[in-house]
Amino acid sequence: MDSFLSFIANISWWIWVLLALALVAIRDIFFQKKHTISHNFPIVGHIRYMLESIGPEMRQYFVANNREELPFNRIERGWIYASAKKENNYEGFGTDRDVYAHQHIFVKNQMMAYKINDNHPNAKDKTFLPCAKVIGAYNKRKKPFRPASAINVSAMSFGSLSAAAVEAMNIGVLKSGAYHNTGEGGLSPYHKQGGDVVFHFGTGYFGVRSEDGNLSLEKLVTLVENNPCIKAIEIKLSQGAKPGKGGVLPGAKITAELAEIRGVEIGKDVLSPATHKAFSTVPELVDLIEEIAEKTGLPVGIKGAIGKLDQWEELADIMLKTGKGPDFITVDGGEGGTGAAPPSFADHVSLPWVYGFSSLYKLFLEKKLTDRIVFIGSGKLGFPAKAAMAFAMGVDCINVAREAMMSIGCIQAQSCHTNTCPAGIATQNQWLQRGINVPLKSDRLAQYFKSFRKELIEITHASGYEHPCQYTMDDIQVNLDDNELNRSLAFTYGYNKAKVAFNGMQELYDCVHLGGKEYMKNEPKK
Ligand SMILES: Cc1cc2nc3c(=O)[nH]c(=O)nc-3n(C[C@H](O)[C@H](O)[C@H](O)COP(=O)(O)O)c2cc1C
Repeated sequence: MDSFLSFIANISWWIWVLLALALVAIRDIFFQKKHTISHNFPIVGHIRYMLESIGPEMRQYFVANNREELPFNRIERGWIYASAKKENNYEGFGTDRDVYAHQHIFVKNQMMAYKINDNHPNAKDKTFLPCAKVIGAYNKRKKPFRPASAINVSAMSFGSLSAAAVEAMNIGVLKSGAYHNTGEGGLSPYHKQGGDVVFHFGTGYFGVRSEDGNLSLEKLVTLVENNPCIKAIEIKLSQGAKPGKGGVLPGAKITAELAEIRGVEIGKDVLSPATHKAFSTVPELVDLIEEIAEKTGLPVGIKGAIGKLDQWEELADIMLKTGKGPDFITVDGGEGGTGAAPPSFADHVSLPWVYGFSSLYKLFLEKKLTDRIVFIGSGKLGFPAKAAMAFAMGVDCINVAREAMMSIGCIQAQSCHTNTCPAGIATQNQWLQRGINVPLKSDRLAQYFKSFRKELIEITHASGYEHPCQYTMDDIQVNLDDNELNRSLAFTYGYNKAKVAFNGMQELYDCVHLGGKEYMKNEPKK
């Protein structure tokens, strides 16, 4: 035995390495049947799989230039990170953008910028930027709501996001006066940290679901009564990344906590169908909106990605005929994010935001309905110049999802669908989410929103306006092709936005329906 052990001990290390490689080669050639490359090129084939798996990180850190990556490039991410940390978010030496590139936009500045006096709300708080319209005012809902921030957190559920991420976002909106859209997963305790909430439901009716998987109005009314933080309700028709696509939440992911919040059974697969059970036609949708508004007193809106317009036109006609309809419409762009979607849907189904929004808005404009609706836009609009463009096209508020995630530490690993998010944001893994420092991250989200609003206000002033709702389609130019070098949005999209009734920032400041009560209490802020 001793002589065998000393024989083993005397074998040099490189013979061990050769032996291990020989075993791998034998496995590659004779035993594994799945990988052709490993079979045909034993051992070296593994190097290819290894390099492929770290390719995205290599390209992100070493290869891609500043403006190359998608969905968000390094400059965009860097601006959000710096703004969220209240660090220097400027750039030196001038733009590195190709300002002659197709679709590049320009905001037209005024000869002399808009001047505010010492008593102006923005003299006290440079970040004060509420929505210029009151949601639910036209339809005389019992509890109308004016968002205290024109920039807000878009629908992302507890389930797609971790508890720590949802909590950080809710405290962040509390600190910045914004609202927090719950997404489809129901109202969790993490959404109840004091921020204004928009309760959102989709075809799964999570949190307000009857035994047979339909919408329970009774549960919805009780939920609203028990949670005064809910300021509005959003019915999801579709989202840009996967319109008309249902989903399955696997039983393995349904913990006791998730089951209770969503109103489903522990450990059992839950289906989110592609279509709603509670309504099948546009008139039925309008009836449901009215019933919810009547029973809860809250403004009710719909969220959709835009493709065909015929049913939207039917909605507009019903609104004209009956005087009823949604209080707000959230238009999501085809470039929008998701926790998980098939690439064929994410890449191709539904129109990108500028095309989708402009065609929908034009339709409502032609029917003279725009003043009855608060338009909300989402789809990579979380940057001040993009937001100015969106306001010029007709939005009243902006929702941001992935930009909000980045403000609390998302590194765009694009692994939301794998439960392995390294930043602990889009995962239910306890270890990964433990890395999130909730008080710090909530400050970051609040600071991102405040920096965003401040910069948007500054751009607005540079254009000679007091509030971005005053932007018109002629204030923004966009590069077209070689024939039409550079044209206004009005020319490009063929309409002029309806004038928003705006009588000065002070009126918004004094509005009794203004949300963000906690934020407003702590004025003044810089
Ligand atoms: C992780 C994640 C979860 C989402 N969950 C929902 C959802 O539950 N309901 C919904 O309507 N949209 C959902 N969305 C879409 C966003 O609300 C938003 O419309 C879209 O990402 C566009 O905004 P963005 O470009 O600022 O990310 C989700 C997006 C992400 C990234």
